[in-house]
Parts: sequence; structure tokens; C-alpha cells
Amino acid sequence: IKKIAVLTSGGDSPGMNAAIRSVVRTCAYMKVECVGIYRGYQGMIEGDFKPMDARSVNNIINKGGTILKSARCEDFRTPEGRKKAHEQLVSAGIDAFVVIGGDGSFTGAMIFNQEYQFPIMGIPGTIDNDIFGTSFTLGFDTALNTVVDCIDKIRDTASSHNRLFFVEVMGRDVGHIALNAGVGAGAEEILIPEENLGLDRLLESLKRSKESGKSSSIVIVAEGDKTGKNVFELKEYVEKHLPIYDVRVSVLGHMQRGGAPSCYDRVLASRMGVKAVESLLEGRTNLMVGVQDNKITLTPINKAIKGHTKIDKELIRVSEIMTT
Ligand code: F6P
Repeated sequence: IKKIAVLTSGGDSPGMNAAIRSVVRTCAYMKVECVGIYRGYQGMIEGDFKPMDARSVNNIINKGGTILKSARCEDFRTPEGRKKAHEQLVSAGIDAFVVIGGDGSFTGAMIFNQEYQFPIMGIPGTIDNDIFGTSFTLGFDTALNTVVDCIDKIRDTASSHNRLFFVEVMGRDVGHIALNAGVGAGAEEILIPEENLGLDRLLESLKRSKESGKSSSIVIVAEGDKTGKNVFELKEYVEKHLPIYDVRVSVLGHMQRGGAPSCYDRVLASRMGVKAVESLLEGRTNLMVGVQDNKITLTPINKAIKGHTKIDKELIRVSEIMTT
């Protein structure tokens, strides 16, 4: 392998730039050429490539977003799209690529590898932490810190006005952000898709907490929760059935995807980038780099796609005890 490409794909996440930097610098260290692919698989199909050397990634370790841009590409889902992408890679002399993204991006890479036996390596980059084979995806830790910071601020005003706040957080169809940030920010209740305890329980818990002397409360709602109500409907529901509360809603939205990556995400990205390039140079392919028990690991990419990480039951128990 003489030339390795790197791209970011799907929803961006803090730490992607640190991972790009690591891939580029590891290539430079190993004396292998490196090429950046812009706009994910769309740029691969269009041949939107740029040679990258160690200096082209100066001053990006601390930056959110991705300097290579990202896209969710429909064309790469088609055999025609992948054929064009393959032609572009071959004509640019690229021998392998590292894709930084989530499970949609990995699925594309895996199919591409099956069709063209093209060496690929995945680095998990998503704030959702919904990938099997790694305890942390890049951006998850930063997103948690962002969410906790926001909730701390909401708590100030909730407490001044004796209010109840429903705060919606991202996570697609999993509740890792909600659960972890909920425990970290001291939420009263945490509604996650993995454990739907029903609306009656929510009302009981809010009633109990009011009676126990709490003046304000924060309820974290994962965007994929299974109560059947969105945050605004939950507000109406509680106002109707529990008129003791003055309720407000805050949807945190895409701010959770931005911002400077935490030190943890920067270090993890640096470790993962080194492992990705080293593994390709050792002749390995079709794998995802992960971190488990603080060790950098490799998982077959098909396994990373299929299994969602399980929600942490011990953390659910901790959150229940903390709301006493
Ligand atoms: O996968 C990351 C994520 O931010 C999810 O948490 C969220 O559901 C989704 O992407 C939002 O996607 P978009 O930026 O395309 O609206």
C-alpha cells in the first residue's frame, strides 16, 4: 500500500479533525502518501481529492466539525455510484481508504470492499455512541460535556423560577447521551428508548419529587424515546395531569454536534488514526478501530454495524438511586 485516502462521512462529530490529522501524520511518518477526500462518498464519486502532508493538518486538533466536510450520500448506495467511486480511486492511484463515520458509512465501506476487494478501515465518529466494538465513538465525550454544560445553565433558570424543564437530547434511536449526561447533570428523570417505563411512572416520580421538597426539576428526553410523545406533548401532558408544575421545553439540537473536542476525544482520535493506518499497512482490511478497556482494538466491520452497544444497566440503577 503506497497511497491511503481519508474521508469523513455521515453526521459530523467533534474529534473528526483530530482523527484526520492522525491518519495524515501517521502516513507521513510511515512514508506513505495520503489523500483527503472531500464531502464523504459524494466527493469520492466526483474525485474531489487533495493530497495531504503532515503540514496540511496543522492547527486542526482543537477544531470541531471536519475540514474535509461531510455528507450523507445516496449515490454511494447504488452499484453505479460505487463503480464511479472505484474508478476515481484507481485513477488517483489510491490503494486503501480510512472512513471516519457511523454505521451508515461503515455499511457503504463494507459493500465497497466486498465488490472491489478494496482495502478499507473504519474509525467510529458519531456523537451517538451507537456502534458495537468500541466503548467510545469520537465525539461522544465532547457531546456529553456540551449537554451537561447546557443543562447546568438550564438548571440555574429552572431553579430561579421553580420550573420543570424537559430537555431533548440527540442520540438517534439510542439513549447513551441522555443517560450519561442525565446522570452527570443530576436529572430528575431520564427517558431513553431502551427502557420505557411509561408516563404514569413519570407523573408519580415528578409528584413525589415535588412533595419531597424539590422546587425545580430537569427531565432529559432522548430524541428516540418510546413514550410516544415528543417533548412538547410531554409538556402538555404533565401540565394537564400535574398542574403543580410550570413547565418549559428546551431542545438542544445541533449544538451537541459542534465545539472543540474534549481532551479525551483528541487522544482517542490520535490513537485510532495510528491504528487504522498501521493496520492497513499490515495488510488488514474490513475492520473498525475501537477502544475497549482502554485498549485500542479491531472489530470486523460487519459486527460493528450489526450490534448496537447495550445500554449500561448499572448506570440506569445509579440514576434511579440518585433521584431519591
Ligand atoms: O447521528 C448523529 C445525529 O446527530 C443524531 O444524533 C441525530 O438524530 C442526527 O444525527 C441528525 O441528523 P442531521 O444532522 O442530518 O439532521
